[in-house]
Amino acid sequence: MRLLFSVSVSFVWVTIVNAQYSVYQPKNRVILGGSSFDYTNTAAAAAASYTGAAAYDPTILNPPAVPDPPIPTQVPVQLTSTGGIPNLSIPQNGGFFGFSIEMSVSNQVLGMNSSYLQVPFLNLMANLVERVGWVQVRVGGNSQENAELVESLPNGAMLAKDTNNTSNPTGTPPLAFTTDLLYLMANISSLTNTHWYLGIPFLNTTPFSLEIVENGQRILGDYLIGFQAGNEPDLYGKKSHGHRPSTYSPVDYFGEVGTLIQQIANDPLIPKKDNLLIVPSVQTSWTPESVWDTGIVSSYSSSILSLAVERYPDDNCAAVYRSRGGVVQNPQDIFINYLQHNASTNMASYYTNSTAFAVQNGKPFVMFETNTASCSGFPGISNSFGAALWALDWALTMAYSNFTGALFHIGGQNAYYNPFTPPPTDQSTFHQWTVGPVYYSALVMAEVLGPHNTSQVVDLTSNINTPIYAVYENGAPTKVALFNFVTDSTGASTYTATISIGGGTTGQSNATPSQVQVKYLLADSVSAKANFTWAGQTFGNNFGSDGRLVGDLNVTTVQCDTTANTCSVSVPAPGFALVFLTSDSLSATSPGSSSASAPRATLPGAFALFAAALGAVVVARRWL
Ligand SMILES: *[C@@H]1O[C@H](CO)[C@@H](O)[C@H](O)[C@H]1NC(C)=O
Ligand SMILES: *[C@@H]1O[C@H](CO)[C@@H](O)[C@H](O)[C@H]1NC(C)=O
Ligand SMILES: *[C@@H]1O[C@H](CO)[C@@H](O)[C@H](O)[C@H]1NC(C)=O
Ligand SMILES: *[C@@H]1O[C@H](CO)[C@@H](O)[C@H](O)[C@H]1NC(C)=O
Ligand SMILES: *[C@@H]1O[C@H](CO)[C@@H](O)[C@H](O)[C@H]1NC(C)=O
Ligand SMILES: *[C@@H]1O[C@H](CO)[C@@H](O)[C@H](O)[C@H]1NC(C)=O
Ligand SMILES: *[C@@H]1O[C@H](CO)[C@@H](O)[C@H](O)[C@H]1NC(C)=O
Ligand SMILES: *[C@@H]1O[C@H](CO)[C@@H](O)[C@H](O)[C@H]1NC(C)=O
Ligand SMILES: *[C@@H]1O[C@H](CO)[C@@H](O)[C@H](O)[C@H]1NC(C)=O
Ligand SMILES: *[C@@H]1O[C@H](CO)[C@@H](O)[C@H](O)[C@H]1NC(C)=O
Ligand SMILES: *[C@@H]1O[C@H](CO)[C@@H](O)[C@H](O)[C@H]1NC(C)=O
Repeated sequence: MRLLFSVSVSFVWVTIVNAQYSVYQPKNRVILGGSSFDYTNTAAAAAASYTGAAAYDPTILNPPAVPDPPIPTQVPVQLTSTGGIPNLSIPQNGGFFGFSIEMSVSNQVLGMNSSYLQVPFLNLMANLVERVGWVQVRVGGNSQENAELVESLPNGAMLAKDTNNTSNPTGTPPLAFTTDLLYLMANISSLTNTHWYLGIPFLNTTPFSLEIVENGQRILGDYLIGFQAGNEPDLYGKKSHGHRPSTYSPVDYFGEVGTLIQQIANDPLIPKKDNLLIVPSVQTSWTPESVWDTGIVSSYSSSILSLAVERYPDDNCAAVYRSRGGVVQNPQDIFINYLQHNASTNMASYYTNSTAFAVQNGKPFVMFETNTASCSGFPGISNSFGAALWALDWALTMAYSNFTGALFHIGGQNAYYNPFTPPPTDQSTFHQWTVGPVYYSALVMAEVLGPHNTSQVVDLTSNINTPIYAVYENGAPTKVALFNFVTDSTGASTYTATISIGGGTTGQSNATPSQVQVKYLLADSVSAKANFTWAGQTFGNNFGSDGRLVGDLNVTTVQCDTTANTCSVSVPAPGFALVFLTSDSLSATSPGSSSASAPRATLPGAFALFAAALGAVVVARRWL
């Protein structure tokens, strides 16, 4: 039984002229959008004069030059038929690729309250649940650190930001929220099997605010995965954060986690005290090893659910906080840093000690927050097709390196890197959502790993421009993932991967199939901001999606050479191909295409959610 949600809006194409709209920005509310900004022409707007929200920034970069020497156009991919292959990862869960939602924008992304759910969000989660059975989402970030659970808020609101209060130097104002946020999450879970991470505010330790744990366990039950004990504590002592004295160290953090565990032990309103906490969620100011060396994992083993880190390969903070100084980077100069495989492998190598440590200690190891660049990402990079390829390569490198999950961050209107972005609040009646490149990566990663939780990933890359991975399940190869980071419309940089299983030099029996099936992730260029397709289907362009794929599913069948025992799969420049070596590997992750004619049933009353200012809005769920 599959569940999808449809919103049919009798769409009114509105041109906004003389619009003044406010968009939430760090620290204050600012009025963006010039007096003549025309949303219907976003794609055509000149990037240089663009003054709207980052999420719709039209900057288009030049793709990096075709590599010299050129990439090999014939690439052999030799797999073993039985017993696996050296260097396989641990078996990975299909829900590996999840999302991290900044708590301060949760009311925009999830819904306004527990009876007003964002239907596109439900669909976006349902797409992943169709493929792998569940999805993991974290609500938190810097804005969780001093979030306060309150009885009620003015006008029945679920969440409020104290935007007058600039005491918090991370740029995120103190948040107040009610239990309705948790009910909203529970309602999302019951419709889509979304599971959640939350965070315990770490600003005040005497005592910690444990209300979120008490109410989270009560309201979310088994849909709650665990609680972050501190978000990026290695930055607490920095001047920019100022949560702690500048001497704040891993040993101090270790002590505070101990205090937290003691307070949880003494709290009768917290029934589940074991396997609860996620530590230490450090960036790179402390090495993970310096935290392991405190003995935190052995000392608090029963309380710790999983180990986590956070990492962005770069930051755009100098552009966002110009007053703090720093060199503003030109996105064009650094685009290439996202389009070579060593970008991912270098970053992952920093964690290899730690993933091994996690495996030894029997704990999951989660990349709790990541994306192209902190401080909102880079225009032209973070929202380009290149970012889809980068995020997919980074996720696969993490899977290969024995991370157990990775959460890609969503920052709201002022971020370039969002996997998906709801329209600005005051445009929600006539604009749909914008699905970004990184959501495509999530969808593809779900299909790469599949629903069995047995996929072991191996990196077979031989050229940094063309990462290649194989997936093995129960000792046999089931999929091959082929990237081409190059943009070359001449066709000269298209390569052919020649896949063979067993036989030949392996000394194993030949198991090359007679045909394979291939799905492609495609766009015209790595710099493209529009017209992305996965197996022929798309979420449309800016403001173009209700969260469902549209278009006809296109799965390519490749006949293999049964004399040479090879299957030749062509990978365009740019592009990504997922090769399904068995029919089960394809059927297990391939929901039908989203034709509009499927039967519909109206949602039960509690979920008939929408208020429509323009046209009729019908919320329905579709049973496939
Ligand atoms: C396994 O990984 C190591 C470290 O990256 C590498 O040196 C070795 O060549 C790999 N082995 C095989 C058979 O690919
Ligand atoms: C939920 O939010 C919607 C949209 O803002 C509003 O119309 C509705 O009254 C709210 N419901 C409750 C119970 O607050
Ligand atoms: C912020 O300050 C303004 C002006 O002093 C005041 O009207 C408003 O109520 C304040 N908002 C909050 C959330 O305190
Ligand atoms: C601002 O927020 C901080 C953290 O929540 C709180 O301690 C402080 O009292 C607030 N200041 C004002 C003026 O409301
Ligand atoms: C959905 O939210 C309502 C509150 O509006 C709550 O009464 C109900 O229990 C929630 N449903 C679930 C499944 O949590
Ligand atoms: C990847 O390798 C290339 C070629 O050696 C080098 O130019 C580039 O700087 C490396 N990129 C990263 C992110 O390490
Ligand atoms: C990994 O651990 C080894 C041995 O403890 C140590 O020498 C090395 O510096 C560590 N690597 C990193 C990146 O910290
Ligand atoms: C991942 O874990 C497996 C099983 O313990 C191990 O064989 C493999 O070397 C690890 N991979 C990395 C990159 O550490
Ligand atoms: C895979 O893991 C998820 C989450 O841990 C679980 O809900 C699901 O049942 C597992 N699937 C299988 C086939 O074991
Ligand atoms: C996207 O594709 C449509 C239909 O093929 C085309 O009309 C449009 O120009 C394309 N948009 C961009 C930005 O490439
Ligand atoms: C399906 O995808 C393949 C590979 O990109 C392409 O060659 C073919 O034209 C597509 N078919 C349709 C009907 O779009």
